[in-house]
Amino acid sequence: MTATDHGLTVGDGVFETLRIRDGQPFALTRHLARLRYSAERIGLSEPSADEIRGAIDAVMEAGRGRLTRLRVTVTSGQGPMSSARGEGPQTVVVTGGEASRPRVCHAVRAPWHRNERSPLTGVKSTSYGENAVMAAYARDKGADEAIMANTHGNLCEGTATNVLVEIDGELLTPPLASGCLPGITRGLALEWAADAGLPIRVTAPGELTMSVLDAAIAGDTHLAVTSSTRGVQHVASLDGHELAAGPLLRRLGALFELNAERNPDPAPRRSS
Ligand SMILES: Cc1ncc(COP(=O)(O)O)c(C=O)c1O
Repeated sequence: MTATDHGLTVGDGVFETLRIRDGQPFALTRHLARLRYSAERIGLSEPSADEIRGAIDAVMEAGRGRLTRLRVTVTSGQGPMSSARGEGPQTVVVTGGEASRPRVCHAVRAPWHRNERSPLTGVKSTSYGENAVMAAYARDKGADEAIMANTHGNLCEGTATNVLVEIDGELLTPPLASGCLPGITRGLALEWAADAGLPIRVTAPGELTMSVLDAAIAGDTHLAVTSSTRGVQHVASLDGHELAAGPLLRRLGALFELNAERNPDPAPRRSS
């Protein structure tokens, strides 16, 4: 990769973060499918799954069992010092990390919005500057995640997580139309919860506003965040207020871990 790689200079690329569970990259087929989708959405050529799988094997071997996560990045390759894209070839980078993950989530409300009409909405793009600013904001407040609204003030997602809400014996998550990423963990949680008969659904646009966060502080609703590295994780505090764990969210968290252990590469179903 060169210093003029368009991924580096303008964030013109896509990526995936995978959790390593029991020595294997979890849900690799789904992550490769989303990488393909993200690449297509921003006009990159389809990344070679074989090349990426080969690079992952090499990184895993070099990690000698110590790695806890992988990152796959694909950029448009070397480009001019402007927003216009170069001719490629695309850059593919696979890296491994050993970061530990927090056991619960401490969240704050982000004072910024996700633009659900951006060309990058729903794309796991390397243009994550907004997320980096919000994550730094959360850290400054002693938290590890910031939850944001979209431009209509509806609940959207965290900087690196999707959000689940437990209200009146039901599990709810905002629709992709809210501008959230089609999280792999969100998708699996929806599928596995429904398979197990837990009441779960994607809400209609606008059904969940940021007022559910006030309700969580008041103790009327419960929150969890989902991501590849966190799994389904209880939001233990919001803006410094302690939140109790929701009974259904607790069951979903345990169910998710059990299913993930049993099924390291769950086949993709239709998208949710
Ligand atoms: C903005 C955003 N939303 C949601 C997620 C969760 O997605 P996944 O479950 O695929 O890790 C991520 C993951 O990093 C993310 O960056």
